[in-house]
Amino acid sequence: MIKGDILECWIDGKLNLTFDNHYVQRQYVIPGLDRKNKEVIVKVINAEAVPMPMTLNIRNGELKLAFETEKFEMMNIKNCMLSACAGMLGLAAGCVSEPDGEIKVDFARKGADIPASMYGIFFEEINHSGDGGLYAELVQNRGFEDTSVPEGFRVEDNRLYPPAVCNHLTGNKPGKEMCYRWPAERIPGWQLEQVTGKGASLSLMQEKPLHHATPTSMLIRLPEEGNVVNVKNTGFWGMNIVQGDPYHLRFYIRQHTPFQGNLDVLLVGHDGAVLKKVAVELKAGSAWNEYKMELVPEASDTKAALVFQLAGKGELALDYVSLFPGHTFMNRPNGLRKDVAETLYALKPAFVRWPGGCIVEGISLSNRVKWKETLGDPMTRPGIYDTWGYRATMGFGYHEFLQFCEDIGADGMFVCNVGLGCQGRVGDACTDKELGFYIQDVLDAIEYALGDPTTTWGKKRVESGHPAPFPLKYVEIGNENWGPVYEKRYDIFYKAIKAKYPQLTLISTLGLGGNEKHEKVDMIDPHWYVAPDTFFDMDSIFDQQKRGDYKIYVGEYACNIGVKGGNMRGALGEAAFLTGVERNSDLVQMASYAPLLENVNDRVWPVNLIWVDSYRVMGRSSYYVQKMYADNRPSWNLGTTVSQPELPVTVQGKIGVGTWETQAEYKDFRIVLPDGKVEEADLSRIDREWKPISGTWSFGDGGYTQSESGPMKWAVWEKEWPENCTLEMKARKKGGSEGFLIFFGVNDQDGYVLNIGGWGNSATAFERMNNGGLSAMPDKVAQHIETDRWYDIRISMNRGELTFYLDGEQILQTKLTRMNRYAVAGYDEQKEEIVVKMVNAEDTPFDAVVKLDNVKIEPQGKVITLSALSGNDENSLDQPDKIIPRTQDYDRFEPEFNYRFEPWSFTIFRIKVKK
Ligand code: AHR
Repeated sequence: MIKGDILECWIDGKLNLTFDNHYVQRQYVIPGLDRKNKEVIVKVINAEAVPMPMTLNIRNGELKLAFETEKFEMMNIKNCMLSACAGMLGLAAGCVSEPDGEIKVDFARKGADIPASMYGIFFEEINHSGDGGLYAELVQNRGFEDTSVPEGFRVEDNRLYPPAVCNHLTGNKPGKEMCYRWPAERIPGWQLEQVTGKGASLSLMQEKPLHHATPTSMLIRLPEEGNVVNVKNTGFWGMNIVQGDPYHLRFYIRQHTPFQGNLDVLLVGHDGAVLKKVAVELKAGSAWNEYKMELVPEASDTKAALVFQLAGKGELALDYVSLFPGHTFMNRPNGLRKDVAETLYALKPAFVRWPGGCIVEGISLSNRVKWKETLGDPMTRPGIYDTWGYRATMGFGYHEFLQFCEDIGADGMFVCNVGLGCQGRVGDACTDKELGFYIQDVLDAIEYALGDPTTTWGKKRVESGHPAPFPLKYVEIGNENWGPVYEKRYDIFYKAIKAKYPQLTLISTLGLGGNEKHEKVDMIDPHWYVAPDTFFDMDSIFDQQKRGDYKIYVGEYACNIGVKGGNMRGALGEAAFLTGVERNSDLVQMASYAPLLENVNDRVWPVNLIWVDSYRVMGRSSYYVQKMYADNRPSWNLGTTVSQPELPVTVQGKIGVGTWETQAEYKDFRIVLPDGKVEEADLSRIDREWKPISGTWSFGDGGYTQSESGPMKWAVWEKEWPENCTLEMKARKKGGSEGFLIFFGVNDQDGYVLNIGGWGNSATAFERMNNGGLSAMPDKVAQHIETDRWYDIRISMNRGELTFYLDGEQILQTKLTRMNRYAVAGYDEQKEEIVVKMVNAEDTPFDAVVKLDNVKIEPQGKVITLSALSGNDENSLDQPDKIIPRTQDYDRFEPEFNYRFEPWSFTIFRIKVKK
């Protein structure tokens, strides 16, 4: 008999039973294996009045089976036997005695059509998502331009500083603190190993460039005879070399001074084992010569390297070293890594958005993406110093993007620059006079995709081997731009593009309601990067939007606050948000998660959908949410309601104070306990009782002061407080740009914050804190905090109801509730199936009665379940299948049936309609 919290046990060396039993009272689990009948037998006793939230995962070879226990009442001790053998699954549906909630789908209430355009993808070169990710090139820094400083920028102390031009919104020039990542290595990606002799060196040079667009080459100096060196490129954290596969090597060499000796090219394993060796016959003379060869390795290694082995004396210049797998996605030259592209293809994206994202705008205008420089022979592409902190080859350029759209049956969305550098960075603006250049630039881009061979840019496409037009359907006018300059420019671009290409859908980057700032809008593109709770709160945000003559494209969204690198709770936050998207498909017509990809060795953005390394690809739990939505897109919505019990929210934990870009002093802390007793903080004991988490805190004149600048600085009173207290204190702002942060219900890095005079000292709101990240709750009031004035602050917490008083006046009241169950349903006309999607973002099962009104159904159908044992769970490259959808046949659908939804799950029913 086993009893306890989280237990794991191995039986027979193969079978892994994992229990997640949060209640440690009178609840017991007895697992066993019946070898003869090849059955797992689990006996469960639950002698508690509460349900027993147990999920049982049984892994047997490839098979993952999931069960749930029965619910039993107190004193009604029963045994429940669940059994399964390979290939079969026992579900606990139907065992639900008393449902907690109801999901009602009314077949007669036909809602909006769900357009085929709904689920797409957004690709941006970020986190080495292209170079080192989707783009199949194996050599890093192939053109030796990785340390070429972008025009107008400078490098100081290994940081990159942008040009000192004014932000058009603020009028400010970038300060000293605005600087960006710069490579620490002299020649990134390349290393020199002196095998024999001494004095050999590698250096970068600009003399006699191979091509004007790529001015730098690498000089290899072997000063004396007898020198043997390995010049090695380790790729993007290793190269995946597969025995017997062809690899195309291309490079250029020039004898800078006469070279006497030999050159061999090798593929070597991580341990130095030779996978392939080819002798190269060097061409004489000081001009550049191109070398091309196919290498077929005799052994495999996932972390291999390319080596130029030189023996002799002299100086060689090397440039544009490219090693490409022969097998790319659809075998396209200069193509995409097969496994990565297939992972994208599996999402069946309706559209692809390219090239960004912030990189469209650049840190400043000078390093924006210039699509014309991404065409043609990759050797001639200068690349860009990418906004995300590394040089990108733009090998996955405009043509490759359009080709990829065509290959996967997706429509293309091109995002153009409107003469504005990223407004959150330098934010420079071209003059109105220069705007014509940017308008022409986007018209040329469209012409390249759609123009016939008689047009200038259509002809270039034909010359690049693609006579037919590409499927370009959308143009986004700018990326995350706002403000009066943008609003005006959008209108100018809109008219110019529509006049020539009326068939295109044009998208504004303003948020909800932004259409009112423009003359005409086809679509607007709001972005959300939030904590899961924000998406749980927001599932109905579109229900309330005014319907008008524009549509919505949610171009970027993700739960990326308080979820570490991503977890199931975040994925369920996105699934909940998407119930609102799908339900409002008359208004919201397109959505794409962001960012799409990361190479795990360079995560510059906190949470990304798909992870890769040199040889593996893995979808996070969020990836499977996306896939399940795309695979199960109904033709139209059906009226759906969910009723569920409100779950209690307890606000219990430590309290604290803090600031955001502000200096402030706090004193006279009082806690009124539920029984009316008052506890006061003795600030003379501050060293013992308070703990600064960040910032510079000091005690003097009876007050506790935070004196540093910068985002969130906070300290906590190291004492646990019960529920339903009132917190009082005085606070005075001493300097900086915002007001006060008051923390309560804090448990480590989670809890609640009252942000008084936040958002540039303009508003006050309660916020949730997850893993130290803040996300505001929807109710916000305008508020400004004066410097050098004492304020009386009072926050009362009463059964999840939070009330804030300032100087005795009630300012804000918010009720915290948890109802983390969401559903949406629709009808798939082609398959004649009702599709019900249900999110249970709680660590307890949801027992619901599902009612299907005004329709006759077949009992047989399918249940697709994505579930995890904990909201913190996530896949990893080593365990990519921890959280993946399970599809089971199900034969107990009825017009009214009970179902137990697993804890932490996203479930889809596909139910056949009887004709
Ligand atoms: O997706 C990452 C970034 O988030 C995008 O580049 C930008 O548009 C947004 O700020």
